[in-house]
Amino acid sequence: MTSGRSFYITTPIYYPSDVPHIGHGYTTVAVDALARWHRQAGDDTWMLTGTDEHGQKMLRAAAANGATPQEWVDRLVAESWFPLLKTLDVANDDFIRTTQPRHEERVRQFVQAIHDRGYIYAGEFEALYCVGCEEFKTESEIVDGTGAFEGLKVCAIHSKPLELLQEKNYFFKLSEFTEPLLKLYAENPDFIRPESARNEVVSFVKQGLKDLSISRSTFDWGIKVPWDETHVIYVWVDALLNYATAVGFGSDPEEFARRWPAYHVVGKDILRFHAVIWPAMLMAAGVEVPRGVFAHGWLLVGGEKMSKSKLTGIAPTEITDVFGSDAYRFYFLSAIAFGQDGSFSWEDLSARYQAELANGFGNLASRTTAMIARYREGIVPPAGEETDGDRVIRETVANAVERADAAIERFRLDEAIAAIWTIVDALNLYITENEPWVLAKDEGSRSRLDTVLYTAAEGLRALAVLLSPIMPIATEKLWVGLGAAESLGRLQDQALRDAGRWGQLRPGTSVNALAPLFPRVEQPGDGQPGAAKA
Ligand code: ME8
Ligand code: MG
Repeated sequence: MTSGRSFYITTPIYYPSDVPHIGHGYTTVAVDALARWHRQAGDDTWMLTGTDEHGQKMLRAAAANGATPQEWVDRLVAESWFPLLKTLDVANDDFIRTTQPRHEERVRQFVQAIHDRGYIYAGEFEALYCVGCEEFKTESEIVDGTGAFEGLKVCAIHSKPLELLQEKNYFFKLSEFTEPLLKLYAENPDFIRPESARNEVVSFVKQGLKDLSISRSTFDWGIKVPWDETHVIYVWVDALLNYATAVGFGSDPEEFARRWPAYHVVGKDILRFHAVIWPAMLMAAGVEVPRGVFAHGWLLVGGEKMSKSKLTGIAPTEITDVFGSDAYRFYFLSAIAFGQDGSFSWEDLSARYQAELANGFGNLASRTTAMIARYREGIVPPAGEETDGDRVIRETVANAVERADAAIERFRLDEAIAAIWTIVDALNLYITENEPWVLAKDEGSRSRLDTVLYTAAEGLRALAVLLSPIMPIATEKLWVGLGAAESLGRLQDQALRDAGRWGQLRPGTSVNALAPLFPRVEQPGDGQPGAAKA
């Protein structure tokens, strides 16, 4: 199934200082859906996710819980971060932890290499640091605190006080990369997407870059600087390198050549690290820069970025326990324009579940298979002569495949789903207009009913294929219900870009009983999963 075209895509590696919330889940399912799409389209696909385990934030979280940092991350990763992938039905190819030897050794090697190439020097430094971001802050990122933090300078993202750090550090000559980065953005307009993100980064870099402190000496939870073991490598330099170390950088040149460069999908909070510091680090080492960085927006609760540190985090299981993982994936990927912020609400989730999944897609699937069972003894009939109405369906399907694939190329999952949904809407209208239950009463309409049933079933065949990267569980049930598993093979082996070729479902196929794809759920109101919890 592999075309040879490499598609390597990553999520950020998350801080396992705490449990995951729906924001982490959002990025992860988006990347998984993109990876599944490309994999099923025959691209040589690799999806990486993982955890970012060093730094001060982790050290403090562990101390607050009476554990060593290693114990703390081992526990959180095993009990919360691995299970997240199961909860959300994520098919990642690898999971990297920055405390693994495969990572630590290559990070030291990389930092030594840019040191040897003259990009690192020792210096003195004093600046305000946000442990939440693990980042030194510049004036525009600092605001006045309110409430308990009245009179203090706080981080604009975390609203928590900053700490004044004064240390001897090693510095990376980031300032030397101002021009090369601007050239990269100019020559490769798709390097940063969407356009709003690109514009923000370009105007930031145009002001000129300052050198970056890349070591710390006041604590030791990190990877030691190779030439000075009294320092540990700055956690962001360590973390960014995961994307390279996980695919064989410094250890398996063949694998690295096969996978690299990557596409990175991140939240806009960490865009600059990925679109500025990371490509500069790679340029300094003489390694190819990433293929691109896509920054998505924030899930908002009460108009603010949802976060654990502000106690507005919602656990993914609160949603999946009620609606299932498919609905989680569908909701976040379709309801929010990928790249923009989106407000989460239980009412919106519940309304879309009912309207789009249960009544729209689920009902179409159960009606169609039930009519084939009832009117044709469970056997998909052959289509007769094609009318204009049938042709519209065939063309809608072919069109949707092209538009969805083009949208995926732009990382616009929401637009891809909207394109696919034109098939759901067209088929529901088609059934209403053709009234198969009326045709069934008239022996003279036998061939017409055959055509209507075939058209609906073949449209569902295409829907199952196209929606499988988004909703792997429901589409698998549909695939089995259509009898396609026996005649066409596994759903995930169906060539995605060929899904619009009409006539793949064979007349004579036996359909199977189909359980509701999206069962009724209790409406939010009583016993509802709580909204933002403290
Ligand atoms: O920043 N809305 O880890 P992190 C949408 N370890 N996405 C959100 C979100 C929200 N409210 N909150 C979090 C780190 N995310 C570093 C990354 S990468 C080399 C190192 C998602 O645990 C989003 O993808 O703070 C965001 O960029 C990421 O979680 C931050 O996760
Ligand atoms: Mg964060």
